[in-house]
Amino acid sequence: MILIDAVTKRYPDGTTAVDRLTLEIPDGSITVLVGPSGCGKTTTLRMINRMIEPTEGRITLDGADIREQPVNSLRRTMGYVIQHAGLFPHRTIVENIATVPRLLGWDRREARTRALELMERVGLDRSLAKRYPYQLSGGQQQRVGVARALAADPPVMLMDEPFSAVDPIVRKGLQDELIRIQGELGKTIVFVTHDIDEAIKIGDMVAVLREGGKLAQYAPPAELLSAPADGFVEDFLGLDRGIRRLSFFTAAGLELNTVPIVAVDSTAEQLAARTVPQTPYLLVTDTEGRPLGWADAKQRAAGSEALIPFGHSFTAGRDSLRAALDSAVLSPTGWAVAVDENGRAVGVAAQETIAAAIRTAHLEQQATGSASGVADAAPVDA
Ligand SMILES: Nc1ncnc2c1ncn2[C@@H]1O[C@H](COP(=O)(O)OP(=O)(O)OP(=O)(O)O)[C@@H](O)[C@H]1O
Ligand SMILES: [Mg+2]
Repeated sequence: MILIDAVTKRYPDGTTAVDRLTLEIPDGSITVLVGPSGCGKTTTLRMINRMIEPTEGRITLDGADIREQPVNSLRRTMGYVIQHAGLFPHRTIVENIATVPRLLGWDRREARTRALELMERVGLDRSLAKRYPYQLSGGQQQRVGVARALAADPPVMLMDEPFSAVDPIVRKGLQDELIRIQGELGKTIVFVTHDIDEAIKIGDMVAVLREGGKLAQYAPPAELLSAPADGFVEDFLGLDRGIRRLSFFTAAGLELNTVPIVAVDSTAEQLAARTVPQTPYLLVTDTEGRPLGWADAKQRAAGSEALIPFGHSFTAGRDSLRAALDSAVLSPTGWAVAVDENGRAVGVAAQETIAAAIRTAHLEQQATGSASGVADAAPVDA
């Protein structure tokens, strides 16, 4: 475990970048430092691998002061990833990734095999191995940066805004990969970002820092959303924290109504049997059961084939109440469409039903009264 113990960093010009910061960073999980520009995130991260030395306080790794260890051996236990990846431009991808193993004296073949294996792990095709960094996209370069940091299998990974320079879709992919890699390899990751959504998505613990390098709150993401420590944290979380918090509640218990589901080739009798006053709409599916759209029940009975788009569906048993609510809000009929893993419609849920499920989830959470209030540290979906 990394313990940052009452650490202060004052630069020679008098700037206090970090002010009496104390953080217990648990092993084998992702801890995120988040906060506005200049709040001391990078300074904190660099004090962990001694690129910057604290003015006061100390940092321990598994109980030992990091100053007791030679800097080089300390850094070997800590991979470091930065924005734009910081790759060596004149080395190929495979050489970039093999850098640290080579420095550690691995022979060329061994290091290369390891590099190729890591390319696979971070989702890069081996055919890119002989390219140079400039021949890759920004997102691919970031993946190389992650692979390079993993190369010597360090127990700790320090990541400073590694995904900030890529577009939102690539970024989501990189975040998902990081969560997967962390799950597989169990690294201790300290991750810096100024993006609160990224922090909430990937963090097991999130430290919100404010200007002047002061800790505003240190909590699991669900707790940040449900109980921000003060106005600063609340502002930083943004307006829709209530909605975002629903990501932590599963939609698995949502009562689904199967009555209005009809296949596109249904007969008049079948349509009539499915038409009930509580749902003036029918969800029409193809012959495999995949939703095509909503139909007005009366018009369908009169022979109309017109369909109303259903927006998007949510996956029953996997997605969160946030996804279910979003589906209901986007659907012109106000009903969310639930599908199974194969995309087949398994039921529909009215906004009112989802609202009731949300109230129940809140009540259950209050009743369990756990520290975070929510059993799962990770959002159900993100
Ligand atoms: N070498 C330095 N000398 C003086 N002040 C510095 C130095 N490096 C950083 N600072 C100041 O320390 C504070 C914290 O800087 P730091 O780089 O840790 O912030 P940050 O949270 O990483 O910001 P950003 O989100 O913009 O990357 C800032 O006010 C910065 O100007
Ligand atoms: Mg920074």
